[in-house]
Amino acid sequence: MIVHEPVLLAESLELLVPPTDGGLLVDATLGQAGHAEAFLDRWPRLALVGVDADAAVMETARARLARFGDRVELVRAWFAEFFASWSPSRAPDLVLFDLGISRFHYEMSGRGFSFDRDEPLDMRLSRDLPAAAADLVNGSDAEQLADILERFGEERHARLIAARIVRERSRAPIETAARLADVIRGAVPPSYRHGRIHPATRSFQALRIAVNHELEQLELGLAGAFRVLAPGGRVGVISFHSLEDRFVKRFFRDRSRDCTCPPEFPVCRCGGRRELHLVTPKAVQPGDAERARNPASRSARLRVAEKAAA
Ligand SMILES: C[S@@+](CC[C@H](N)C(=O)[O-])C[C@H]1O[C@@H](n2cnc3c(N)ncnc32)[C@H](O)[C@@H]1O
Repeated sequence: MIVHEPVLLAESLELLVPPTDGGLLVDATLGQAGHAEAFLDRWPRLALVGVDADAAVMETARARLARFGDRVELVRAWFAEFFASWSPSRAPDLVLFDLGISRFHYEMSGRGFSFDRDEPLDMRLSRDLPAAAADLVNGSDAEQLADILERFGEERHARLIAARIVRERSRAPIETAARLADVIRGAVPPSYRHGRIHPATRSFQALRIAVNHELEQLELGLAGAFRVLAPGGRVGVISFHSLEDRFVKRFFRDRSRDCTCPPEFPVCRCGGRRELHLVTPKAVQPGDAERARNPASRSARLRVAEKAAA
């Protein structure tokens, strides 16, 4: 069943245009293939390689894309490893990253991504990862837990929450998403408990990022995508929280400069050459209609860059 609505779809289609003779799109985060299907429909000669770490979500994508026949190839892989090991016979013209997880994961995976569900606290996109969220929650010391919540969730009550987790798990291991959410709710000040977002939102985000090594994947994946991309080709990244968006912004900005010497150097010593051009100097955000229709899109930001000519 398709439950995920692709975000910033019209904007992605407008900014990522394949060459007229066909072209190749790598959708590095295929999910339920909402973006992929729209690109294949819009450009009848476009070929697609769809990548996802998650075998279960990929089955829903496979069924959805079956009608496109041999225009589509699907690869179950982490995108950092995919780009590192891929030596395409043909360089992609476009790469799309739509980061994070999809509505499928919250509603249908049964892996504890939602704090209101009595599901095992797993959060792994793929079983090839050795540690699930429950392993981090029950096996890390208070300092390590607080560090995860602070770094990956920017959670201001990280220390309070970590201390409460350590106390509660000594009674019984925390094994479900619903129990962890209860523990967090009990740890934070009442004003935070009744705030705009659920008090466990940031902690759940942090654990998911830590379990799936999302920031390392992003760093290696982006570098790998630009390495294999055809000159003049474009990479689009849709991110959903400030940690990701800040990283993408900096990655694009640093590589769009010729010289990266400190400003006090009178002449350039690095001899740097720009690797890409910014297509979106400012991040593109969903319009009012999309935000109203799909509240999950509210934090989305799309940035696009073009690989410099060889
Ligand atoms: C936001 S969803 C993509 C939704 C998709 N654009 C659509 O319209 O259905 C992100 C997808 O990327 C996958 N994913 C996240 N990190 C990944 C990584 N490092 N490597 C491969 N897939 C990843 C998740 O499993 C998820 O299916």
